[in-house]
Amino acid sequence: MTQVIRHSEALREKVAGWKRSGMLVGVVPTMGALHDGHLSLVHAARAQSDRVIVTVFVNPMQFNNTTDLQKYPRDEATDLALLEAAGVDVLFAPDVTEVYPDGFATTVSVSGVSASMEGAFRPGHFDGVATVVAKLLGMTQAGRAFFGEKDWQQLQVVRRMVRDLNLPVRIIGCPTVREENGLAMSSRNQHLTGPQRDIAPVLHRILVQTAQRLRRGEDVHTALAEARAEILSHGFHDLDYLDLRTADDLQPLDTLQGAARLLVAVGLGQVRLIDNIAVDA
Ligand code: PAF
Repeated sequence: MTQVIRHSEALREKVAGWKRSGMLVGVVPTMGALHDGHLSLVHAARAQSDRVIVTVFVNPMQFNNTTDLQKYPRDEATDLALLEAAGVDVLFAPDVTEVYPDGFATTVSVSGVSASMEGAFRPGHFDGVATVVAKLLGMTQAGRAFFGEKDWQQLQVVRRMVRDLNLPVRIIGCPTVREENGLAMSSRNQHLTGPQRDIAPVLHRILVQTAQRLRRGEDVHTALAEARAEILSHGFHDLDYLDLRTADDLQPLDTLQGAARLLVAVGLGQVRLIDNIAVDA
C-alpha cells in the first residue's frame, strides 16, 4: 500500500524510522502524469533500494511560461494507482506552500552545464530544477535518486550540484524509455494530435541516422546542418538546437571524440519535444 504524505515533517519521521532499521531509501522525483518512463525509474529504484519514495510536485519555479505551467497534465488518482501497482512505499505530494513557504529566499544555481541549450532557451529553468531537487533531496534524505536520461542536460546539472554541494546521495541515470516507434516518452506527448503522433517519431529516427553518419567520420557541421533541414522538412517548427556535445560537461564539439551526445529540442504543434542519444566515437 502506497502512503500519501504531503508534509515534510511527516516524511522526515517516516524516513528516520526506515533509516533506524538500516534501510537504504531511494527517491524518484517527478512532476506527475506518470508514464512508463517514470515507472522504469521506479523499477530501478525498487531494485536498488529498500524503500522507495516517488515525489510528485509540479514545480512552478522551473516553468518560464505560465501557460505551460497551467496546462501541465495533473492526475494524482491515476498516478497513485500506478505507484501502488509498482510497489512504491510513499508518494510525497507537497503543495506549493510546503515547498516554497512565505519568505522563501534561496536559489540554487549551477553555472556551466546549465548555460546552453535548455538553459539558453528557457531562462531560469535550471535554477528552478536545481533548487527543487536540492529541496526534495533534503526533504526525503534519500541515499539514491533516480533520473531519466531523456532530460540529459538536467541529469548533468543535478550531478554537478550534488558533487559541488557534497550532498550525501548517489545520482542514478536511467535509459530513456521509448514508444515502439522510437518516440521518447514524455508527459507532454499527451498534447500531440493524431497526425502529430505520426510525425513525432521521425525525430528519433533522424537522431539515429545522424549519429551513424558522425560515427562514420562525416563532417560534424555538414551532418548537423542536413539533419536540421530534414527535421524542419517533416513539419516540426522552432528548432531551438540540434547539437553535438561532450556527454558530461556539455561542451560543443566540432569533431567526434570521446563520449558525446546529440541533443535536440524542437516544436511540434503545441508541444516542445526534447530528445538525445549517445554518439560515442
Ligand atoms: O524531470 C522532472 O520531472 C523535473 O524536472 C524534476 C526533476 C522532478 C524537478 O521538478
